[in-house]
Amino acid sequence: MCGIVGYIGTQIAPDILISGLEKLEYRGYDSAGLATIFEDELHCVRAKGKLHNLRAKIEQNHHPAQIGIGHTRWATHGKPEEHNAHPHLDMARRVAVVQNGIIENYRELREDLKTKGHEFVSDTDTEVIPHLIAELLTTTSESDSPLLEAVQKAVQRLRGAYAIAVICADYPDEMVIAREQAPLVIGFGQGEFFCASDTPALIAHTRAVLPLENGEIAKLTPLGVEVYNQSGDRVKKTPRTLDWNPVVVEKQGFRHFMLKEIYEQPGVVRTCLEAYLDQDWHAGQNSETSPIHLNLSPTLTENLENIQILACGTSWHAALVGKYLLEQLVGIPTSVQYASEFRYAPAPITPHTLTIGVTQSGETADTLAALDLEKRRRGNLETKFQPHLLGITNRPESTLGQMVDEVIDTHAGIEIGVAATKTFIAQLIGFYCLSLDLAYQRKTLSEERIEEILDNLRYLPAQIELILESQERYIEELAHDFAETQDFIFVGRGINFPIALEGALKLKEISYIHAEGYPAGEMKHGPIALLDNKVPVVSIAMPGCVYEKVLSNAQEAKARDARLIGVTAMNDTEANDTFDNLLPVPEVEELISPLVTVIPLQLLSYHIAARRGLDVDQPRNLAKSVTVE
Ligand code: F6R
Repeated sequence: MCGIVGYIGTQIAPDILISGLEKLEYRGYDSAGLATIFEDELHCVRAKGKLHNLRAKIEQNHHPAQIGIGHTRWATHGKPEEHNAHPHLDMARRVAVVQNGIIENYRELREDLKTKGHEFVSDTDTEVIPHLIAELLTTTSESDSPLLEAVQKAVQRLRGAYAIAVICADYPDEMVIAREQAPLVIGFGQGEFFCASDTPALIAHTRAVLPLENGEIAKLTPLGVEVYNQSGDRVKKTPRTLDWNPVVVEKQGFRHFMLKEIYEQPGVVRTCLEAYLDQDWHAGQNSETSPIHLNLSPTLTENLENIQILACGTSWHAALVGKYLLEQLVGIPTSVQYASEFRYAPAPITPHTLTIGVTQSGETADTLAALDLEKRRRGNLETKFQPHLLGITNRPESTLGQMVDEVIDTHAGIEIGVAATKTFIAQLIGFYCLSLDLAYQRKTLSEERIEEILDNLRYLPAQIELILESQERYIEELAHDFAETQDFIFVGRGINFPIALEGALKLKEISYIHAEGYPAGEMKHGPIALLDNKVPVVSIAMPGCVYEKVLSNAQEAKARDARLIGVTAMNDTEANDTFDNLLPVPEVEELISPLVTVIPLQLLSYHIAARRGLDVDQPRNLAKSVTVE
């Protein structure tokens, strides 16, 4: 939520900042702005709406400044109007600040500053920061590093979760940045330095990066970077090298990132399986070693009696599939909690519990706070209650990665489209690997059965490719029928119930069509009252123990005139008689069917939204990384 960038060096800062903001626009796109210092004056340009509005303004007002900060906003405090856009300035227009996060005590600070003569022009929480820094600069002018010291003193007075970047026209060769519970990464170039909320803004310029930790403050000058801890002591830190290729953040000919990412799924599944599955393992031959090498320390899983999974949104749906696998394959009682609920009503503490945080961004504030709560409340208890935290993410370098004991890296890489697709399927693969590894260790499945499931997983990349090749054109045409539809129902049962939820979430978030997912058997307990010939029902009806039940539930919907769309197995002849439209997928065993049934649902929501002419990659009111509560 909100993206910030900063640059200091020898190149033209506005160009670098705009290209950085383009890569961060997925974090928010209500308004954007830049502040630069040129000839010892601060220049600030802001625009409501998407980045192209800012770009147009900058073209009329271009300075070859070599230092600057930029921001793309997802509104929290104050409407998405230009006067609320960042950067925010002090009254003398000497200090400029961009912020990602929320300053919880801003009202109190604003009242205090007002008594000292400060006047405010925005409705935001952020505006107090430049005013506070300007006030503190009057007390630090004798210091060796007045701006750094003023920011150090200012952050001591801020409460909340934030990342900030600050420049001041009186100190034109430095930028000071600070992080508290919101991501901020420094990029190291040759005689130039960058900062950004996320690494995609940096990789066109450098792969040497240093994520700041909570409480750290850094001073960036053309000569180098100094990092200070919360106590004000300088700390030595070594940048790490990113192994990404910049093309992951380009569309590569696809109309939208979402479609590109849907098409990346066969490769993502293949890479994740290759990373963790032992190719030479065969049932009965090397029974001392697991066929899945997650390299988790034994303390994380030995004596394990319970698992609780904390997540939000699509990651929460992946967690529901995970629960099914962990309970059905391993027999470990598993609960799935919305992280935002768990924070304020945590489940009672159980012994020998593994807590899993699932997140594609690795930065979701609710998920991080729920994990932190778990860590703190178990921290001082006797051994059997102590915290064991595992993360499942495609961003092992994220805040989640730093917070948990161990990570299953799902190898999906960064996702740009706001609607999660490839990261979801990769999270599912992470859960299959974890469950099968535990099933092996605990001998809850025979080696032959494990080998059978692993073989089926290995067919998946080709099966997903087949769905994409054979279905996309048809789904694109089918989407025409739903351009004006107002409500959709998605139903599934068992392991495909979470996929019904996911199908509904995908549709509503990018097409703005109201959609709900239900366990098919629940329809008759209320939701069936919604059905008529204007409400299509998408039913996931794959061969398995609930197949006949789902077909009966579909018939009940048909009897209420609903148009029925079936996600069915390719060779299912019975389905033809039941459904008005079919979205066939290869016949796979029920246990792994979510990995194929989700694909046509992603395509359906994509094409309905594209058909309605909507901004698929940046749907209204949403952001890719939800770093506020
Ligand atoms: C849906 C979507 C959101 C996220 C949710 C959690 O397509 O993207 O619902 O799943 O905001 O985000 P992460 O996984 O980053 O914790």
